[in-house]
Amino acid sequence: MIDLDENTVTDATLAQMATTSDPRLKEIMDAAVRHLHAFAREVNLTPAEWLQGIAVLTEVGKACTEVRQEFILLSDVLGLSAVVNALHDKKAQELGTQSSLLGPFFREGAPELPLGANIVSSFKAEEIAMYGQVTDNNGKPIPNALVQVWQTNDEGWYDVQAHEDASMDMRGNFRTDADGRYYFRTVRPLGYSIPMDGPVGRLVKLQGRHGMRPSHVHVLITADGYRELVSALYFGDDDHIGSDTVFGVSASLVVEAKDNADCPIPGLRSVRYDFRMPAASATDTGRVGADPAAMMKAAE
Ligand code: BEZ
Ligand code: FE
Repeated sequence: MIDLDENTVTDATLAQMATTSDPRLKEIMDAAVRHLHAFAREVNLTPAEWLQGIAVLTEVGKACTEVRQEFILLSDVLGLSAVVNALHDKKAQELGTQSSLLGPFFREGAPELPLGANIVSSFKAEEIAMYGQVTDNNGKPIPNALVQVWQTNDEGWYDVQAHEDASMDMRGNFRTDADGRYYFRTVRPLGYSIPMDGPVGRLVKLQGRHGMRPSHVHVLITADGYRELVSALYFGDDDHIGSDTVFGVSASLVVEAKDNADCPIPGLRSVRYDFRMPAASATDTGRVGADPAAMMKAAE
């Protein structure tokens, strides 16, 4: 029998877990144990703090619903989702458009709309157009790509927050035309606060952070033979463009609405953005995010 102390318990735990047959599970759990123990030692974690941490995680779990994934939100505000996103991009066989967070408001089954349609049912702010081309990494157009977009309205709410019946709004799915082009009308979205009424919001407030995300439009593009692209376009003139609470902004994804002579929808200020899809490869590691409803179903 060995006498374990706060240091030797780490090796004892790793030794006991050495029988794990799945090598990737072993790698992940070994590292998790090493880092968790080192973290507790570094901050000299007290029993009260340990219990408080467990209470917070319990609350985070309880806050998860069909339309809200509080664990993903926690990962987001800690920058973990952005790290996983960046690692995912690095593994791509070739780099296309930079990716960004899927976020908790993606929903499967949004309406498929004709090119040029407006995705917003009612609005008071400026109507704008968004358009561009979906191509491969060499600029070859990709027809029939599925471009899914979703955003907040001009008051900063997603449909699940704005409509009591959670009807689909401010989102739509478009198919690119024969030249790989997409175009649609929308309203300029307002930047918004991440949900602050739960345990994650409480943490963010305790940290003195503003909790805001700059105005953006999410995209998820899929096409046969290409790696799925999860990204978002961010409006550069938003006050929070440099301090996104969930670290989703990259310089290459910053856009502005302006007069563009080649916009297929005339008479509106517009955002042009061309998306480059990297080729699919065996090293693709999946989507960084999920529809909360699908996650609830999987957990049943
Ligand atoms: C979003 O962009 O929808 C989002 C991302 C992370 C946390 C909250 C919202
Ligand atoms: Fe968003």
